[in-house]
Amino acid sequence: MSIGMSKLLVIGISLFVCLLFQCEEIYGKEYVVGDEKGWSPDHNVSSWPEGKKFKAGDVLNFKYTNPSFEVVALINYPGYYEACDPYPVAKDIYTSGNDHVVLEKGPNAFVPFDISYCKRGMKLQVEAD
Ligand SMILES: *[C@@H]1O[C@H](CO)[C@@H](O)[C@H](O)[C@H]1NC(C)=O
Repeated sequence: MSIGMSKLLVIGISLFVCLLFQCEEIYGKEYVVGDEKGWSPDHNVSSWPEGKKFKAGDVLNFKYTNPSFEVVALINYPGYYEACDPYPVAKDIYTSGNDHVVLEKGPNAFVPFDISYCKRGMKLQVEAD
């Protein structure tokens, strides 16, 4: 086997191992918000983070079909998340229905674009180390 070939093989094997085990160490882990229920008011999505450990660089995948649920990411400023008053502290709005949001260190808060759903409890805050 030539040197070039064995290099390729090494790269191939490391990519494969990365896919199996270690990508999350390198690239962050991806979570589907709400698991199979998604980003929706049909369950208590606020309790979904319980028991999970998030790190900066991890990715939250928000899945939804209703445009009312477009995701507003908030600047961390006390009170607005709790009050479902996102617009003064809106940082980003995601609208694809299959949104990937990279977590930053500290609290990361999200509410649906239509705040009437937020007022009924559809909101999410996760703390990333
Ligand atoms: C939803 O979960 C949050 C976080 O655990 C909790 O504070 C809240 O009371 C729950 N709401 C309902 C309606 O169960």
